[in-house]
Amino acid sequence: MEESKIDDLIKRMTLEDKAHQLTQINADFVATDSKATVTGLTGYLKLDNDDVEKVGSVLNFSGGEMAKAIQKKHLEKNEIPLLLMQDVIHGYETMYPLNIAMGGTFDLDLVEDCAYMSGIEAKLNGVHVTFAPMVDLVRDARWGRVNESTGEDPYLNGLMARAFIRGYKKAGLGVCVKHFAGYGAAESGKDYNVTEISEYTLRNFYLPGYKECLKEKPDMFMVSFNVLNGVPMAANSHLLIDVLRNEWGFNGVVISDYNGIGEMITHGYAPSYKECAKTAITNQIDIEMMSSSYIHYLPSLIHEGEINSLVVDKMVKRVLTMKNNLGLFENPFRGIDIKKYKDMIRTKANRKLVLGAAEKSCVLLKNNRVLPLETDTSVILIGPYADERSIIGRYKCLGRVDDCISVKIGVESLLGVEVETSKGCSSNILDNDYSMIDEACDKASRHEVIIACVGESSEDSGEGASRADISLPSVQIELIKKLAELKKKLVLVVFGGRPQVLSEVEKYADAILYAWEPGSEGGTAIANLLYGKSYPSGKLTMSFPRSTGQCPIYYNHFNTGRPKNPDIISNANFNSSFRDELNSPLYPFGYGLTYTTFIISNVHLSNDSLSKGEAIKLYVDIKNIGERDGQEVVQLYIHDIYASCVRPVKELKGFKIVKLKQGEESSITFEINEDMVKFYSSKGEYEAEPGEFEVMVGFNSKDVTTINFTLKRWEI
Ligand code: GLC
Repeated sequence: MEESKIDDLIKRMTLEDKAHQLTQINADFVATDSKATVTGLTGYLKLDNDDVEKVGSVLNFSGGEMAKAIQKKHLEKNEIPLLLMQDVIHGYETMYPLNIAMGGTFDLDLVEDCAYMSGIEAKLNGVHVTFAPMVDLVRDARWGRVNESTGEDPYLNGLMARAFIRGYKKAGLGVCVKHFAGYGAAESGKDYNVTEISEYTLRNFYLPGYKECLKEKPDMFMVSFNVLNGVPMAANSHLLIDVLRNEWGFNGVVISDYNGIGEMITHGYAPSYKECAKTAITNQIDIEMMSSSYIHYLPSLIHEGEINSLVVDKMVKRVLTMKNNLGLFENPFRGIDIKKYKDMIRTKANRKLVLGAAEKSCVLLKNNRVLPLETDTSVILIGPYADERSIIGRYKCLGRVDDCISVKIGVESLLGVEVETSKGCSSNILDNDYSMIDEACDKASRHEVIIACVGESSEDSGEGASRADISLPSVQIELIKKLAELKKKLVLVVFGGRPQVLSEVEKYADAILYAWEPGSEGGTAIANLLYGKSYPSGKLTMSFPRSTGQCPIYYNHFNTGRPKNPDIISNANFNSSFRDELNSPLYPFGYGLTYTTFIISNVHLSNDSLSKGEAIKLYVDIKNIGERDGQEVVQLYIHDIYASCVRPVKELKGFKIVKLKQGEESSITFEINEDMVKFYSSKGEYEAEPGEFEVMVGFNSKDVTTINFTLKRWEI
């Protein structure tokens, strides 16, 4: 529809129409025919059926039939089609691994392919825009939503978010970058908690990922729940107007999070719902999700001259323009095709794709030469996740647990025989029932290899699922200890949506495979990796703490004025350390083993100084000196040794995936340029400062080869 037609449409809308157009509620309310007002938990909305029939968008619905029904019903009374949104985060029905795992593949094409696949499934089922990608930088594994992020590095997060956006958009799905901004810095990792982030840290760590998304032209940004430096994000004009709209030039739709506008009252910021509406409209939050301050107060705010009607018209125009760009005016039922959907979701292609994603995102943390297993060894599966199919995460759209391959199913189909299992303990991390351990150990004693499937359930991470202690439950630790006493080969497969503390069990395991929530083909992937049908290549994109007390812990930290050797307990009281814990993580960012050994050599630069506008090259030789084919991720880090603000001890600035057969070698080259050393300086400028730099290269952020270069002070 031409822009002029949109302008005409807006001219014909009443203020009430505009307020409804800028409101989004659960699809369930639109679907029901009840004349009752919206009641129950959402009675606070105080919406009657007339309101419900007029809203401009809905979220979270059960699929194509419902999408068709609510759109049809809506169009009986409205000229403007309904916008339908859903949380398509790591799959729609065919589920791939959590994003914290997908980030660890370092494979941007794979991420794009998975987003595309899920975008097609979602679009065929009536979804117009997904509430993704989630681009929050995360450093504290106590926070449950780390599972939706791709980790603690802004550079990787930005590239991964762009890959997700490309995939969704190629499928014809709109995208909503979230949660803007700094939600992942929730104090003590407690969800919805306050955040305190300086402008320097915002600019250099928390904002770059969101900003990078602009290169892929996202349709929407979502405002986060958190208070940032004393102000709820919904009231944060600096970020919503000065930065997002004016500095970054984003002219798409901004949506609140679920009742995020209404919660300004609860935060103790807005005295009334009317003030909520005024603040949110002033900050150009175009759509109010699951609160109704616009419906109740937008008209009167304009009548009373509190809000300029032109501001509201701009908001409405952004929403109608987005609907127009999605083709909704031409075809409000665009893309819905239930039959095509049903034909595609179980295709071998989709299952093969998510199988590969699961294989590439599991992380081999330890292997004392027990993996891969021989198929003729006698094996038993122990633990609460040995025969568990709920390993597809919580934000799962139409993902079906009964459609998921458990470890038991995966291993039995690979071996072609039934495999004995024993739970050993419950999956409830709060449960202290030790009564099943003896039976599990008794059964295990009759086998050569024990595969213990432990960790946390999909309910223990995700939204609202923070944990104060991220250790394995004590009953699982006891189970693992007892199994170790049997002196069998002991392999741990750990499930979860966050880094968990494995310090107390690491020493008992001959091998540890971190499986995250691997998705619909999880069990098949784990079996393939354990038996060598494929090899592990996943990496960690969050540091794994030795103990919860180290949280937040992240690789790109500052040096402090009193650093200490991260791998020794220091007796001196006068350095930045713990009396009772090392400074180093148990497993560092970028870490992950494979079934062979790669070595790096001959690391050198084309020049040891970099001049303005030029680039230097970093040359690296890689060799597979092991007995099997494998893959590594060669990671490039840079450290700005001194600058007008302190700089991280290292920052990821490049990576390359290298696949080598046994005995093969290869050479790779990185280009180092001025952009790679720019940062928001003490002057608030994004600039490179001349000086000394270290460049490091390795297969993780800890074990690196370091050489120096100088960024020359150039002639002005
Ligand atoms: C939730 C989440 C957000 C999600 C939205 C819609 O509260 O914070 O990530 O997209 O509501 O479900």
